This record gives sequence, structure tokens and C-alpha cells, in this order.
Amino acid sequence: MEEPASPTSWSCPASSLAPGQSAKFTLRCADRAVEGFLVNHDGGFYAYVNRCPHAGTTLDWWPNEFFTEDGGHLICATHGAVYLPDTGLCIAGPCPGASLTPLAVVRQGDTLLVSCPRAEP
Ligand code: FES
Repeated sequence: MEEPASPTSWSCPASSLAPGQSAKFTLRCADRAVEGFLVNHDGGFYAYVNRCPHAGTTLDWWPNEFFTEDGGHLICATHGAVYLPDTGLCIAGPCPGASLTPLAVVRQGDTLLVSCPRAEP
């Protein structure tokens, strides 16, 4: 059975995502379904492919739980890799120096538009 088509971009109102909150979505990039997530970190919006570079799992054990308890970083629930929310760089855990795959985020007024990465995700 074929997967339903996903859009190549996804959008949401910026006002719907307060600092420390996140949202998940699925894009169709290069004919593959790619799960991503968008975070509001201190008023800046950043989106990444939901795949940990350590072992390739999704980051959120509980759906849409990406932030550390103090809200300062992103964390992979599988083995505890800790990432900077604004760059996706891993700074602690099993894969320091590795990075999440970023997704482009464009803001138009109150609308945040997330689209596929240029390179293969
Ligand atoms: S898979 Fe994310 S820390 Fe191991």
C-alpha cells in the first residue's frame, strides 16, 4: 500500500508556538517522508529532521518532547545526546560534534514556513 503524499512544506502560526514549545510535522522530500520538528527557543524558530545522528532514532520518546527539563537544550531520549537548539550541534552525550539536519524556516508575518533541506535528509 502506498503512503499518502505529504507536502514539501509545512506551516504554522508563529504565535501558536511559545518559547520552549515544539511542533512535529511530516514533509515529502526527494520522494521520501521526512519527520521534522520546529522549536521556539527564546523567541527564535529552528527546525530539524527528527533523527538523531548518533543511532538514527527519533529524538522524542514521548511525542513532541524535545527540550531538556530546564528548557535550555534539545535532548535525544534514546541515549541522552544534548543539542544546542539554535544550531543543532551536539554538545554532550554519545555524539559531541555531530549535528541534527536543519530544515529551512522562513517567517512571513505570523506564518512560519518549513521546507525540505537542500541536500538529501
Ligand atoms: S540515538 Fe540519540 S543519543 Fe543515541
